[in-house]
This record gives sequence, C-alpha cells and structure tokens, in this order.
Amino acid sequence: MKKTVILETKELTKSFPGVRALKAVNLVIMEGEVHCIVGMNGAGKSTLIKLLMGALMPDSGEILVEGESVHFSTPAQAQAKGIACVYQELDLIPDLDVVENVFLNHEKVDKGFLLNRRAMEQATLSLLSSIGVSIPLNIQVRHLTVSERQLVALARALSFKPRILIMDEPTSALSRIEQERLFNIVRQLRNDKISVIYISHRLEEILDIGDRVTVLRDGQLVGTKDVNDVTKEHIIEMMLGRKLENEFPERREVVLSNINAETVLSVRHLSIAKKVHDISFDLKHGEILGFFGMVGAGKTEILKALVGAIQSKGQIVIEGKKVQIKSPIDALRHGIGLIPEDRKGEGILSELSVMENVGIVAYHRARRMFLIHFQYVEKLVQKYVSSLDIKTPSLRQLMRNLSGGNQQKAIVARWLVERKHILLLDEPTRGIDVNSKTDIYRLIFQLAAEGISIIVASSELEEITRICDRILIIYDGHIVKEVNVDEASDAEILFEATGG
Ligand SMILES: Nc1ncnc2c1ncn2[C@@H]1O[C@H](COP(=O)(O)OP(=O)(O)OP(=O)(O)O)[C@@H](O)[C@H]1O
Ligand SMILES: [Mg+2]
Repeated sequence: MKKTVILETKELTKSFPGVRALKAVNLVIMEGEVHCIVGMNGAGKSTLIKLLMGALMPDSGEILVEGESVHFSTPAQAQAKGIACVYQELDLIPDLDVVENVFLNHEKVDKGFLLNRRAMEQATLSLLSSIGVSIPLNIQVRHLTVSERQLVALARALSFKPRILIMDEPTSALSRIEQERLFNIVRQLRNDKISVIYISHRLEEILDIGDRVTVLRDGQLVGTKDVNDVTKEHIIEMMLGRKLENEFPERREVVLSNINAETVLSVRHLSIAKKVHDISFDLKHGEILGFFGMVGAGKTEILKALVGAIQSKGQIVIEGKKVQIKSPIDALRHGIGLIPEDRKGEGILSELSVMENVGIVAYHRARRMFLIHFQYVEKLVQKYVSSLDIKTPSLRQLMRNLSGGNQQKAIVARWLVERKHILLLDEPTRGIDVNSKTDIYRLIFQLAAEGISIIVASSELEEITRICDRILIIYDGHIVKEVNVDEASDAEILFEATGG
C-alpha cells in the first residue's frame, strides 16, 4: 500500500532576536502515522509546531498540506485545514469553564447567532468520556489539576476533528493510567488514518507509541528514522551530537549514619482535608528523601502544606522547635523552599527577565537586610544559568521567550541560588531533556553534600530510586511504606505505590 504525504515543510526557517530557532527544516509527515519529534530543551520543537499552526510566521521556507502550499497567519486557518494542537503551554482560559474552553472560538450556534450551550455540553461530555475522564463541565478550569487541564486541552483539540493532531508534551503531567488511555486514543487515531505529531522528552514513550521519529538539534533536523531502526541510545546520540556519559551520575556516599545526621524536620500527623491522612516522617541533615507515588497520590499536597500554601492539621518541628507555617512567607522564614509542580502557574514570572526570575528570592532577601549586592546576585544567577545550561541569549531575555524546558530549569535555578536549609522539589525534571536532567541530579547531590536537606517528590521510579537515600511510598494520601533504596526492588515499590 502506497503511503501518502499529508504534511511537509521545505527549508522552514525562523529566527528570534539573538536565536536561530529553526534552520531550513524539511519535515515529512505521512497519513496515519505517529510521528515523534524529539530534541533537547530549546532545540526548536515548539517553534516548529507554532509555525505549523500559524501561531508564528516563518522567515522563509514553505509548508505544504497535501501538496498544496499554505500560508497560515492564525491558528484558525490551520484548524480549517484539519490541523489541531495541544500546546505545551496550555492555552486554556482559567476563568472559563470546561465547556467554554473546549469550544472557545468555535462555539456551536443555532440559527447563526444563538449559543447552543446544550449541544456544546453534550459534545464535551462525549469527548471527555471518549478519553476516559469525568470532570464537571461547569467547573472553571482554574480549579482543575495540571493533568485534568491537559486532558481538557486534548478534548478541545479533538473537538476540531483534525486530520493532523499535534501534541507538545501531552503526558508530562499524566498518571500511568491516563497515559495508557492517551496511547489508546493515539492508536485509535492512527487506525482512523489520522496523523499524530507527538513531542516528548520520554524516549521510552516514543519507542512505544511512535512509527517514526525526527530529531532536532539546535534548530536543525538531524534525521528522521523508523522507530524500529533505533534505540534510546541512538536517539540520545542524535539529540546531543555525542554519547550521554551516564544519565544518572554516581550516587553519593550515604552519610546518614554519621554524627551530622540530626533530624532537621519532623512532621507529625499531618492531614489535609480528604486528601492526605496522618502523615509522619523525619528528614535528616543532608538527606535526600524521596516521595514516590502515582500522579494524584497526594505528594504535591504534602509539599504544599509544608510551605503553608494549603491548609493542614498536624505538627511541624524544625530543628527541635515547633513552628507554625501558615503561609509561604512563614516557610521562607523557617528556611523551607518549594519548587512547585505547576511551575507555569505558580513559579514563572513570564514578563520579567531570566535574571529577575532566577534571582528574585535572593534580591528579596538582600533588600530586607538593607544590602543589595546586585553584582553578587548576578554572579550567582550566571553560575546556575551556566551549570544548568539554560539556553538564553542573555540574562535580560524575558522569561516568556525561553523554551518550556528552559523556563523550568530557570525556576529550579532560583532555589539553587537561594540556599534554604530545606528544599522541596516537586517533579523537578518534568519537561526537562535527558542531558539537563543529569545536571539537575548532580546539583541535588552537591546541595545535599553541603548539608541541605532535600525532599524529592516524583512519579518516575527510576529517578527516585537512583537519587534518593530513603523513599516514602505514598498511596491515596497515606505513607504506605518506607523503604531503603538498596533493599527494595522496583517491583516491590511499584506494587506498594499502586495500592498493594
Ligand atoms: N518568542 C520568542 N522570542 C525569542 N526567542 C524565542 C521565542 N520563542 C522561542 N525562542 C527561542 O527559540 C529556541 C527554540 O525554542 P523552542 O521553544 O522551540 O524549543 P523546544 O525544542 O520546544 O524546547 P523545550 O523542550 O524546552 O520545550 C530557544 O532558544 C528559545 O529561547
Ligand atoms: Mg517546547
């Protein structure tokens, strides 16, 4: 059977001030294939997608849909040609409800002008149930979790009945079950001859779901391969232009048994209404403690409660003193910092510069002490921007102009600049490329070696077992088990984390 080309780019090129984001890219998408696109943070993946969607215009080059040259200047024009997209930076409107978001700008109308809410509700309901989610239709999107929002965005994209569906990191916040469901949808779309363009940093996922994979590096297309012809190592090599030494740096010596290992943080009977039940644990000086559990197990809530971002009951003792943490300001005062999971919503100041985003806490502290060592802060910021390899033409660049992964890295850098005694990291490497992940692990080890106590919450088992000293397994708001990494197998940990 002869396959047909549905979408093609010719010498597609796009620059931003100081950045050649895409250089003469020739991409070919076949009808009914799952075509994955991979590359390091800042390689140009999202830029390519925005050009295909008419959200950006190319400097030069051409886009062809079924052989016909197209010039989209708005996403509506791309949608009219059958292309729909779930963006990496979800474009939902927080104040609108689920139905309004799904049908935003393509509302169903009666007699040409009356909104047909009922029809839209029914359509939304059937879209959501087709992807296996049940969320109230009238709830404002701001009240949804990151994963629910991701699924609403997917329902919105599907509502266009596209011939080409583009997904920019769709699974980054999904649970295993939700991811499996998404894969089933992708397979169904493929059966229906719909092409899927799929961007992800999880290379295992790509080998699982993809038919072909295209690698971008520094804005250039390095190659397109059949997934059956490549391994994860191949792909990484194409992405980096070299081999990755070791994805997980050597685990540091566990030093918990030495005299330094006094308890820094004690949590007793922490409960959060309906979500978290009677959590008690200790965190030691210089320890890396892991919270492992599936998406939705309650890890994020526990961390948020520890910094006073959500209300909780129970007792928190820091360095032997009972403390009240009612707000993030209290937490800062007691030396606790959180890198939140929803970094876009809670972390990024998109209209400020990289310098301000990374240095903001340090500035704040310096000002309180009546001394602003701008140069000192700037040097620190530069140091972490370099060691995390944050791709930006300068520290003055606005945060919104950074690629998604580089924004994430900047937020991580903020808390590295500001050395709190206790650092809480919620999914610290989500959306971050393999190479930068390694940089982050190295920095975590370094901080712990310097005596900072760290909690890492993650739903990625390998990450947790490779970097943590001790693991608490969280299931359904409870600590179901504590394990020593050297003693428990992956299978045992997964077994406990999925309810035993
Ligand atoms: N609006 C913009 N203004 C200036 N530079 C931009 C803009 N959008 C993207 N860039 C730059 O273009 C390059 C490619 O960014 P892009 O978002 O396409 O990367 P990406 O491959 O999607 O990365 P990630 O994996 O981090 O999402 C980056 O260096 C980024 O900083
Ligand atoms: Mg991107």
